[in-house]
Amino acid sequence: MTQPVSVAIEDGIAVVTIDNPPVNAMSHAVRAALAEAIAKIDADETVSAVVLACAGRTFVAGADIREFNQPPKPPHLPEVIEAIETSRVPWVAAIHGTALGGGLELALGCSGRIADPRAVLGLPEVGLGLIPGAGGTVRLPRLVPLEEAIAIITTGKPVGAAKAAEIGLVDRIADDLAADAKALARELATRGKPAPLSASDPVETPEVDFWEAKREEIARKVRGQLSPVEALDAIRDAVTHHAGDALGAERARFLRLKESEQSEALRYMFFAERNTGRPDDVRDAEPADIRKVGVVGGGTMGSGIAAACLLAGFSVALGEQDAEAAARAAERVAGILDAAARRGLISEPGVADALARFDTGAGYGLFADCDLVIEAVFEDMDVKKAVFAELDKVARRDAILASNTSYLDVNEIAATTADPSRVVGLHFFSPAHVMKLLEIVNAGATSPRTLATAFAVAKTLRKTPVVAGVCDGFIGNRIFSAFRRECDFMLEEGALPQQIDAAMLDFGFAMGIYAVSDLAGLDIGWATRKRQAATRDPQARYSRIADRICERGRFGQKTGAGWYRYEDGSRIGHPDPEVEKIILEESERLGFRRVTLPADEIMHRILGAMQREAQAVLDEGIALKASDIDVALVHGYGFPRHQGGPMFKAGYRP
Ligand code: 3HC
Ligand code: NAI
Repeated sequence: MTQPVSVAIEDGIAVVTIDNPPVNAMSHAVRAALAEAIAKIDADETVSAVVLACAGRTFVAGADIREFNQPPKPPHLPEVIEAIETSRVPWVAAIHGTALGGGLELALGCSGRIADPRAVLGLPEVGLGLIPGAGGTVRLPRLVPLEEAIAIITTGKPVGAAKAAEIGLVDRIADDLAADAKALARELATRGKPAPLSASDPVETPEVDFWEAKREEIARKVRGQLSPVEALDAIRDAVTHHAGDALGAERARFLRLKESEQSEALRYMFFAERNTGRPDDVRDAEPADIRKVGVVGGGTMGSGIAAACLLAGFSVALGEQDAEAAARAAERVAGILDAAARRGLISEPGVADALARFDTGAGYGLFADCDLVIEAVFEDMDVKKAVFAELDKVARRDAILASNTSYLDVNEIAATTADPSRVVGLHFFSPAHVMKLLEIVNAGATSPRTLATAFAVAKTLRKTPVVAGVCDGFIGNRIFSAFRRECDFMLEEGALPQQIDAAMLDFGFAMGIYAVSDLAGLDIGWATRKRQAATRDPQARYSRIADRICERGRFGQKTGAGWYRYEDGSRIGHPDPEVEKIILEESERLGFRRVTLPADEIMHRILGAMQREAQAVLDEGIALKASDIDVALVHGYGFPRHQGGPMFKAGYRP
């Protein structure tokens, strides 16, 4: 095994290199070896300065999260950083890749910091339900403007090297990191070691009002997640107290949060998201080389999928029913790209480059040279079958054919082709260029090569793939339908849409289920229920409320009314007496004496419905593992990440 820390001394400069692949996390072994190196260097009078660098693809990306489930073992990270800060000689952090969490805190313990131009620096601990626990909240506001420190720590969003240099987080951006770091170390040795950050005063110490306003602002944004608010409190302590006391208080807060359920949930999600990759049976399959993607249908989903593919660098051919529809789809795609440019996600020349890779038209001819074709036409089995039969004629024999169907049987669609092994479901979520989740539907005959390609495409699109088997609604929509059903039952028993939505917001959802339904449109769900009517168990409980709302032409925001009423094109829904009337009539028809359902009971029933359906999805092999279900609900349905997902809430631990 290679040593996690090595020291090379040349001309009085010691280069200390951390080597702990893949991301140089500060595991116990690294901390112990680094502490030993610090002590040796302090005892070696020939050393006048130190460069702290990392091998491999990145600087230290943080503490080792895998160790957080065990009691911490000495030497602890704060002690190691303090030893660097109080070392006899100046240390310079030479940063490439990502300096995150404990990695950036390590750099803050150094006397100087120099970064590669592509480096990224941040304190993402809040995303793990934590606050920085090794001096980040104390040293950062003593180095950069307070507002910048608050933004970095409470949002967890990292900054690039240029911004880091602008706010004083790094001293320099390097041309040649190794050489320039040594030069900076030598300069500091000559000039004399600067005072450590924890010995200096904070940059600013605002009044109580400032902190209260900030606290409210953050609490409003994070919807029940505790760590960002705790992080602000830690920064306030850090700048209003002596650094020594603040360091102790920060550590105590960090250790307390580490034991919280929210932190456990967020750490679980961190690994669950990284564990949705290819199942074992497709691990060795070679994915097809995808350069050109065809998209059939340029409505809401097709245009979003086309834009996502263009933004990821693919060439795209989008086919519609006729020239007019194709022109409208092209406009939608261009609109998405322009909006991406306005938000700084792509440059103006980037938009021009994407449009140069984009082709639209009517008919199927433009799919002849596509490596992958994704169908996103109406949710209607006959229409989809007709499309796949045509694709089978024009597409290359080795092209992959995918359907974006929300509910339909991908096997039945695949059966219209000569070779169902190249057919797969690629279920995007709306808006397709934004939402992270991609359900990869493994139909009965889908080949390992086709599946491997779907995973590779997900990676290029920077989506989180979750593999699902064929059933009505796959993983996500099936569980969604089950809990929607339960919500409709609660309406019959006494709740109102706004009360159910409020309970969900309280739990941490960004939107309640009825507001989401209005946003997405009620018509697709209505069509699905009508399709399922013939096969529905007549004994099973069925709520008619949603159907009665649709019968009045209320399809959600797009028609100005759905579960709520929308005035003059506004997106803000108001409770509507007409909906309440339908609900009360249904309660009466069914003989319910309406009762008030408290928010905690509403959430208890929602979670119960999700968990029962999730267990069935697992038992039937539709999902491969419980954590995939949680990832799907968090990334496709707004389940609050800090609650870990329904399976986590049910007590599932890997
Ligand atoms: N501890 C343990 N394992 C880690 C890790 C960490 N801090 N960071 C990443 N890993 C693992 C991943 O689980 C993954 O393992 P796998 O290959 O077995 O699935 C492997 O390293 C590679 O990670 P990614 O797949 O995420 O690689 P990317 O290149 O896409 O991303 C990254 C790299 C940006 C560093 C990303 O991994 C990341 O954001 N890591 C977490 C950073 C973080 O949150 N740091 C703070 C930790 S808490 C802390 O430092 C507390 C301190 O204040 C005391
Ligand atoms: P949409 O109605 O907005 O778009 C469908 C488009 O397909 C229309 O522009 C139509 O002109 C076109 N089209 C129909 N037949 C065609 C054909 N033979 N050739 C070429 N184009 C044809 O529908 P939407 O919402 O985009 O849905 C498309 C598919 O995506 C459906 O299967 C739906 O279930 C699925 N889906 C929808 C989501 C949503 O939130 N809207 C989310 C995930 C999946």
